[in-house]
Amino acid sequence: MGIFLLPSPAFLGALLFALSTLWLFPEFANARITRHYKFDIKLKNVTRLCHTKSIVTVNGRFPGPRIIAREGDRVVVKVVNHVQNNVTIHWHGVRQLRSGWADGPAYVTQCPIQTGQTYVYNFTIVGQRGTLLWHGHISWLRSTIYGAIVILPKRNISYPFAQPYKEVPIIFGEWWNADTEAVISQALQTGGGPNVSDAYTINGLPGPLYNCSAKDTFKLKVKPGKTYLLRLINAALNDELFFSIANHTFTVVEADAVYVKPFHTDTLLITPGQTTNILLKTKPHFPNATFLMAARPYFTGLGTFDNSSTAGILEYEPPSVPSSSTIPIKNLPLFKPTLPPLNDTSLATNFTKRFRSLANIQSPANVPQTVDKRFFFTVGLGSNPCPQNQTCQGPNGTKFAASVNNISFILPTTALLQAHFFGQSNGVYTTDFPNNPLIPFNYTGTPPNNTLVSNGTKVVQLSFNTSVELVMQDTSILGAESHPLHLHGFNFFVVGQGFGNFDSKKDPAKFNLVDPVERNTVGVPSGGWVAIRFLADNPGVWFMHCHLEVHTSWGLKMAWVVRDGKLPNQKLPPPPSDLPKC
Ligand code: C2O
Repeated sequence: MGIFLLPSPAFLGALLFALSTLWLFPEFANARITRHYKFDIKLKNVTRLCHTKSIVTVNGRFPGPRIIAREGDRVVVKVVNHVQNNVTIHWHGVRQLRSGWADGPAYVTQCPIQTGQTYVYNFTIVGQRGTLLWHGHISWLRSTIYGAIVILPKRNISYPFAQPYKEVPIIFGEWWNADTEAVISQALQTGGGPNVSDAYTINGLPGPLYNCSAKDTFKLKVKPGKTYLLRLINAALNDELFFSIANHTFTVVEADAVYVKPFHTDTLLITPGQTTNILLKTKPHFPNATFLMAARPYFTGLGTFDNSSTAGILEYEPPSVPSSSTIPIKNLPLFKPTLPPLNDTSLATNFTKRFRSLANIQSPANVPQTVDKRFFFTVGLGSNPCPQNQTCQGPNGTKFAASVNNISFILPTTALLQAHFFGQSNGVYTTDFPNNPLIPFNYTGTPPNNTLVSNGTKVVQLSFNTSVELVMQDTSILGAESHPLHLHGFNFFVVGQGFGNFDSKKDPAKFNLVDPVERNTVGVPSGGWVAIRFLADNPGVWFMHCHLEVHTSWGLKMAWVVRDGKLPNQKLPPPPSDLPKC
């Protein structure tokens, strides 16, 4: 151990000099810094739609606090659990290079933080800038535990677009009058579809289109003739959302913390787990009107869903010298946007196809050009038999299930990553997850009579630096449906998508290996397929699941185990000493 002496005056002088130069020449302050946050998980009474309930929050806030960092910074979040529920937090989209212990999904990379316990998440943000989100990653707690992650570019590096006048996070969520933990536990008991939310929210506020909600409306106050960067985040539990602002268009510039080739649109689609940065250019002059910004779902399944609309208000600051004719803001005409029909798949498809990587020198698209391993996964719904002496409310008296390659994933009672790291996978998981469906069928045709899934904790094991191509195929079992699939630990490139069954002979020829969008969450088209590629350059255990929480609960999830590489910097370090135990 080192011997600590009192600092010498010379050392103190040098330190002072260093600090003063940093202050005088901030461009030297390029050094990455560590940002500390404390998350106290506690209950808080919150009222929406005239309904008060006690919710699990971070620091009593809903939505939770914003995390701000610069690319390259270390983020250290001390999470203290003061509630009765087990808790974990996931930093959705953060690549967690060799820091898988900080990823957060319960029973995948860690055991939950129990009542009274503390866990410190410690990770560095490498090669990412833009918007991401953090959220609870156990059961349905993310209905109230979520917030924005804002990653600024490195100091003195500018955006690939003009510096916006202001930046505003806009987080979509869902509000439930009922206790969401009771909703999902009851649904899993009965086997039926869970109840749906009572409202959608913008920054935690449902807005004026709901009863007893006008006072809970998000207002975006803007000046004319300026550009605003809106950081859109979909933190809803179960719903993809269309979003639009009356009489305004925007430019999409970034998705999932990766810049994209800018494109204009007046409506956008954002799935749970996705983030989209848009530039909103305000009208050149005070428009003598206010404008609603609204979101409502895109839904293609057969079940029930919350088909309501949330809205906020875009309000222009009136001219500083009011004239006698100036109308008070509340009396100005209010324009409403027209949102697409709830099942507008063609709009959804045309919109998602417009995303392209910048693919230039500063922001290259490092798409794997060759593939070491190919996988074909079906994703969709299915059923489990109803236990004897019980009546079930799922399809034909069964229990709802969901699966990948017909395996409905069962979370273990210990964490997969610990089992992997300590070589104790026996009895926890097996590595025989099928690369292809065991029984091929017409995935998008008339569904088979047998809708039963099998259940298990199976993973795919990959060697370090394997380049992977994965085609995810929606099935029509119990209804074709769009599934936003999220992969932890990696960004992937979306090289192709289409409707119907994937054709391994014809479709790969059409793959985009030049400028495909790079993201962490992609919608598998309803009744179609999507092809992604990624390089397995991050050792650890990485969860992949549908980001519709109900489907995750039903088993639409699996995990990739990426083994260590040979070099020291290709190995996952041992777990931190405070890693929770199961
Ligand atoms: Cu945002 Cu595993 O999730």
